Amino acid sequence: MSWFRIVRPVSDFGFSANLCTAAVGVEMTRSANTTLGIIGTGAMGRGIAQIAAQAGCCVLLLDTREGAAAEAKDALGKQWGKLVEKGKMTAEAATAATARLQIVADTRDLAYANAVVEAIVEQLDAKRALFKELDDIVSADCVLATNTSSLSVTAIAAGTANPARVAGFHFFNPVPLMKVVEVVAGALTESSALDLLTELASEWGHTPVRAQDTPGFIVNHAGRAYVTEALAILREGVADVTTIDTILREAAGFRLGPFELLDLTGLDVSHPVMESIYRQYYDDPRYRPSPIAAQRLAAGLLGRKSGRGFYRYDGAPNSQVPVSTAVPWAGPVWVSNAVPEAAAAVRALLAGLGVTPEIGAQPGAEALIVVTPLGTDVSACVAAENLDGRRTIGIDTLLLDKHRTLMRSPATDPAVAAQAQALFSADSVPAALIADSAGFVLQRVLASIVNIGCEIAQQGVCSPADLDRAVELGLGYPQGPLAWGDALGAARLLVILRALQARTGDARYRPSLWLVRRVELGLSLRA
Ligand code: NAI
Repeated sequence: MSWFRIVRPVSDFGFSANLCTAAVGVEMTRSANTTLGIIGTGAMGRGIAQIAAQAGCCVLLLDTREGAAAEAKDALGKQWGKLVEKGKMTAEAATAATARLQIVADTRDLAYANAVVEAIVEQLDAKRALFKELDDIVSADCVLATNTSSLSVTAIAAGTANPARVAGFHFFNPVPLMKVVEVVAGALTESSALDLLTELASEWGHTPVRAQDTPGFIVNHAGRAYVTEALAILREGVADVTTIDTILREAAGFRLGPFELLDLTGLDVSHPVMESIYRQYYDDPRYRPSPIAAQRLAAGLLGRKSGRGFYRYDGAPNSQVPVSTAVPWAGPVWVSNAVPEAAAAVRALLAGLGVTPEIGAQPGAEALIVVTPLGTDVSACVAAENLDGRRTIGIDTLLLDKHRTLMRSPATDPAVAAQAQALFSADSVPAALIADSAGFVLQRVLASIVNIGCEIAQQGVCSPADLDRAVELGLGYPQGPLAWGDALGAARLLVILRALQARTGDARYRPSLWLVRRVELGLSLRA
């Protein structure tokens, strides 16, 4: 019999106290009074163990693979040693944290745990069987938490005698650095279970966000738009991966372009998640994955881990964005006033470049014709305004400061396009040139991100504030989707989405009613 089975001390708080003796100095916290079982000590389990033990929890480590829990304990000891060397942790704290880790051999050794977090293999049957087994072992008030990222918490809970105490506790990899955790309510989860996990997560230095049990919860749901829309843009032949990545990094401030991100995660992980969420939403076109990803996965082009993905990591050269040697357009320039605000932004930009555009309802015979599509493309503008397609170029006015995007139609003279590109980057702000695409790259991707964020809010998956917090911390986007939507202009994004839907006929772009109503009422998307 293990030593910690002998007594079950009960604290003043009414729950069993931490069974470790090493919680000295942190007695007043919930963690110091919590014995936490962690089942599955792989990448996630050991990360959760690290932050829990640091905060004072007694952590019981269990893994079915022989030696796995001991490996995790050793790895954590080394990790804390490194933190001490770097001056990020005291030697005393490291010693205390190490003493709070106990390796156990059997689920029966978790009898006195206040909470158990499972981070085992991502299989519904395995998780259900494990929690069912714990039913007869742990106390009635022990919370059972699952770190699942893609399974239904409700379905896992349904296998147990008491689904009210089962909740999702979805951390991100690597746990100590990814400071957000989704606390997920299954259909029958009681708030006391959610409250305990929320309090523990806060003490562990993480930001807990509350989510309803829906496919992808918050972060993996909100993250659908970025890569699936980029893949759709690639599939339409609008631009190559380097150009799409560059536009999204430089103009919008994403840390990684969507294809760099896919290469980092690996298509073997990303594509099944895209398919799973799409299927779980009964083939809602908003979440539609791409045949490009399926084919590349079949070819083993996984990304960094296989040496080759959208980019090469095997020493072979990567394609670069071509450097244009064209001279800037020096003739007259005419700007369409079809979208007056966008036209004003382009005129201001041209003024900064030393160009005074022509005045007049129609372009002169020699002028470069500049259109400013919102959610549509250059071809549509040419047709709607009866313009000369050979001289017509589009510019994305959504974000113009750090990187610009120009669009040519199939009719645009390549020499005119190249000279326009040189003109619009004459102030050293780079300008990409893409093929005709309803909504450019930025408009499509950002409007899709905001639209899916609005739908998450509409479905009540979480509060607007938790949505923005979760996306900033979990996905590293410059802003949460609702705050970003407000900053870009919700009305403008609604115009883009409606035009995209009209132009493509694709229900993928149908605007969320959360967005529509707030634009109609002049409210913030966070309201
Ligand atoms: P992993 O493969 O690194 O570790 C899983 C561990 O569980 C292994 O050590 C294995 O021996 C053990 N195990 C398997 N079945 C067991 C059982 N019945 N009882 C006890 N131990 C068992 O997996 P990882 O990456 O740590 O993922 C664990 C869970 O966390 C999965 O549900 C996964 O979907 C979820 N998750 C993973 C993330 C990631 O980026 N790796 C992110 C968020 C959630």
